[in-house]
Amino acid sequence: MDKQTLESTARAIVASGKGILAADESSPTIKKRFSSIGVESTQATRRAYRDLLFTTPGVEAFISGVILFDETMRQATDTDVRFPQYLIQRGIIPGIKVDKGAKPLAGFEDEKITEGLDGLRRRLSEYREMGARFAKWRAVIPMGHEIPTTFGLKANAHALARYAALCQEAGLVPIVEPEVLMDGDHDIKGCRDVTAAALNQVYDALFDHCVYLEGTLLKPNMVLPGKNYPVRAAPEEIAEATVTCFRQVVPAAVPGIVFLSGGQSSVEASANLNAINAMGKQPWELSFSFGRALQANALEAWRGDDDRREAAQRVFYHRARLNSAARIGAYNASMEEEIDSVPPSQNDF
Ligand code: 13P
Repeated sequence: MDKQTLESTARAIVASGKGILAADESSPTIKKRFSSIGVESTQATRRAYRDLLFTTPGVEAFISGVILFDETMRQATDTDVRFPQYLIQRGIIPGIKVDKGAKPLAGFEDEKITEGLDGLRRRLSEYREMGARFAKWRAVIPMGHEIPTTFGLKANAHALARYAALCQEAGLVPIVEPEVLMDGDHDIKGCRDVTAAALNQVYDALFDHCVYLEGTLLKPNMVLPGKNYPVRAAPEEIAEATVTCFRQVVPAAVPGIVFLSGGQSSVEASANLNAINAMGKQPWELSFSFGRALQANALEAWRGDDDRREAAQRVFYHRARLNSAARIGAYNASMEEEIDSVPPSQNDF
């Protein structure tokens, strides 16, 4: 394991003003996203959509890394450059989702365990050969009556730690993602308690597996009330709960925390990330690794129509720029209207 390279890759991913585009939707998930805009999910439409996002001119100013799905890793741009190589040319680091999805945890009703450890060593070395420099593994933690159990948290932490150790052996920065779901009617304190308990288990397991924390990134949920809780929380309240929770349980050796959006709207996710960064300097960089919150508006603008490709790129560029501002606490709601200040036009590649 080359610790220095792992650490410098992790730090490059959380460089100031930059964050990650999570474009690693599995085939069933992208099918769901496409059906919401009336587009059939085929290899060709999936490739065309990812091409639209990745070739957006100027987006490398805000996006340091992209998480790909296995299929996309093997596909190419309109100009026939493999996506990972294309991203590298643009100064964007390619990453890869390596888990095989969350399945029911036997014996523990309504809890899940993420699969994909068998054969992972071989897959990681193939992905590295193909250009990936970081990976992602998502554990899913549902909120409900008497769940998650301590065992459910431990089982997922163990799998995350096995994955992280294998990644570092293969020269890939592991993004460790324990996602406490927003579904439910719990209050913000409920989310905070479970997030803290999950992260405690994760860092215990990473320690036991001798994972080099400086060469990792954490991808957590923000601390929020459940989707069905009757009162929404203000960004300042979310920021306070999130930062306080993370200061208690995330070691300072971790270079960065890259939040998932988890079902927040694009505007909510930017406003909350902004409030988190506005709280001042913390031991780690506080950035984004958004899927839906970066893509929803662009997807809607595109609707599978080639003629709307540039309009969709403008929307994507705009969203990335706003999250870049939120990354340094410089976002405000009036920027939502500045859509025309973006450059998409011909790009150089
Ligand atoms: P969302 O931002 O849409 O939650 O997706 C991020 C992600 O990669 C979840 O694994």
